[in-house]
Amino acid sequence: MSAEEIEKLPGVGPATAEKLMDAGYNDLMAIAVESPRVLSDVAEIGDSTAGKIIQAAKEAADIGGFETGSELLEKRKSIGMLSTGAESFNDLLGGGIETGSITELFGEFGSGKTQIAHQLLVNATRTEEEGGLDGQAMIIDTENSFRPGRVCEIAEARDMDPEETLDNIHVGRAFNSHHQMLLADRALDLGKDNPIRLLVVDSLTSHFRAEYVGRGALAERQQTLNKHLHKLLNFADRNNAAIVVTNQVTANPDQFFGDPTKPIGGHILGHTATFRVYLRKSKGDKRIARLVDSPNMPEGEAVFKVEEAGITE
Ligand code: GTP
Ligand code: MG
Repeated sequence: MSAEEIEKLPGVGPATAEKLMDAGYNDLMAIAVESPRVLSDVAEIGDSTAGKIIQAAKEAADIGGFETGSELLEKRKSIGMLSTGAESFNDLLGGGIETGSITELFGEFGSGKTQIAHQLLVNATRTEEEGGLDGQAMIIDTENSFRPGRVCEIAEARDMDPEETLDNIHVGRAFNSHHQMLLADRALDLGKDNPIRLLVVDSLTSHFRAEYVGRGALAERQQTLNKHLHKLLNFADRNNAAIVVTNQVTANPDQFFGDPTKPIGGHILGHTATFRVYLRKSKGDKRIARLVDSPNMPEGEAVFKVEEAGITE
């Protein structure tokens, strides 16, 4: 969508339109689902004007036409399913992690986010019959927690060639949020020449959280995250890839007033992630995954283990 189209919304002049575009609000839907507070911060306008713009965007948003169920069914046939390594976890997700969508894994430290990431990177390189995506995988590592040795261990436990597996995994280490976003651009380039079917961002939010501190920075953080997420979705579309992002829960009175089960990232992330999985520790190596938000699966829980061999039943 162009700035001119945004300008057609009542209360939006050229300057506001430009601010919105810069902040990644480049379609009416993105504006329609935003909260007045964030939008007023982003565009430096009053709350009530923001409210009116959002209302107008809701009315004008292209909600699309209708398709028959069979047309949709046909489309869904191209969606790949990536195994998590544990059957119960796969069942919870309706078969596995879907390509074309963003799956968010959130939970406290040690809940298994990074271990699952390693397992998924390995699994993505396997054939479809083996629960893989028959391609390559990529990770944007923001916490320096990727371990090639761990990949080898997991691969060996599945009778895979560890070196060949590592050859199919591209690792980018992001030093700050800006670098993280540049790596997502780079991923789009690499995706043109390589069959990359999984992109992991572990963690999606840690740099953003560290760099945008305090309430004043909230709007800017959200708009930057929004841009980043749309780039990831773009990657998912172009490569029919699964996107998996991790997110820590916060006990910080950030924007959620200290609810420790709320992921950081807020409204935009909630809207963009198609599947949200809350992870928590149980006894020993047991972990519990709860599906919090999914378009087609009931909420539920699955128990799995983090073992030497990786993620298991
Ligand atoms: P943060 O990144 O700190 O938020 O945590 P996380 O959710 O990414 O946790 P992570 O996936 O790193 O899980 C850590 C847990 O996995 C540890 O408590 C260990 O029990 C287990 N774990 C980590 N590395 C290994 C390993 O190499 N082998 C085995 N068997 N278990 C591991
Ligand atoms: Mg981690």
